[in-house]
Amino acid sequence: MNAIVAKCTTNALQAAAENLRNGGLVAFPTETVYGIGADASNAEATKRMYLVKNRPADHPVIVHIADLNDVDYWAQDISDYAITLMRDFWPGPMTLLLQRTSNVKDFITGSQDVVGIRIPANTIALNLLTEFRKLGGRGIAAPSANRYGAVSPTTANAVIAELQDYLEPRDQILDGGSCAVGIESTIIDCTKSNPAILRHGAITAEMIEVSTGIVIADPSSEAIRVSGSDKKHYAPNAKVHINTVPQPGHGLIALAEVETPTGVIRLAAPKSIEEYARIFYAALRDADLQSLKNVVVVPPAGDGLAVAIRDR
Ligand code: TXA
Ligand code: MG
Repeated sequence: MNAIVAKCTTNALQAAAENLRNGGLVAFPTETVYGIGADASNAEATKRMYLVKNRPADHPVIVHIADLNDVDYWAQDISDYAITLMRDFWPGPMTLLLQRTSNVKDFITGSQDVVGIRIPANTIALNLLTEFRKLGGRGIAAPSANRYGAVSPTTANAVIAELQDYLEPRDQILDGGSCAVGIESTIIDCTKSNPAILRHGAITAEMIEVSTGIVIADPSSEAIRVSGSDKKHYAPNAKVHINTVPQPGHGLIALAEVETPTGVIRLAAPKSIEEYARIFYAALRDADLQSLKNVVVVPPAGDGLAVAIRDR
């Protein structure tokens, strides 16, 4: 074990914030998934975070901030509907793509002119961001704390499994238990006249339209690259079959109402769509731990969060 795993006492969060300011990396829980954080103003730290993830350097990373006062440091020319979304859904599982200011360097955006910003709704993440801000930090750049191409971690143990071999002794993993939402934030492009969803999440299309009163734009006309929409991005080792009939020896992830055929290994039987999202990545990880070759996923039907799960 390289990095320190810490319970989230006030002292631990202050130490983690100092560590970030000194160029260290800190993995922390959010309400969606765990992130691996670096000081968003520190080129060296951010570069090392990319190495730890084995992530291509041209993939942009989300900047996490403590409160609305920090938005203007990173973004400009913000539309009225984007401000409405911030007020309605932050802190929360929503990332807004906004026009960047000159404070946002190319190593954050993959040289694109937009920056992704989010205020997470998790006490540990918010306290870490607040301590970091007290030390003069402006934002924490944090992708999901998995190796590139792997499933996002929703527990500290999953972060350890993904990254422990690549972190340094000075880096830290904050253990905040299981993530409440379980799938990544909704990504909304707010740089055009209408909002466009580039990655589905717990903030749904309907919620966005009700909040802003504006119809969502078709993302197919998008010029912005979002790697999360890459199919490969969320893949476990096991081969995933969507909506097929599971054979003996196959894993099965489906709502509780779906029965388990004889010889099939039931990985999860969530009773609601919310529970489905919360346990989905852990169930995929479990398939790999059990060295299953095939997993059948029966995604939930319907709108809202079900769209986000099917998107995975
Ligand atoms: O829920 C989440 O969003 C989690 C937690 C840790 O906040 N983070 C997360 O980060 O999922 P990551 O890097 O694994 O996925 C973020 C996605 C990537 O596909 C990235 O390409 C896209 O957001 N993205 C970030 N900044 C962007 C930008 N400036 N322009 C376009 N896409 C951006
Ligand atoms: Mg990711």
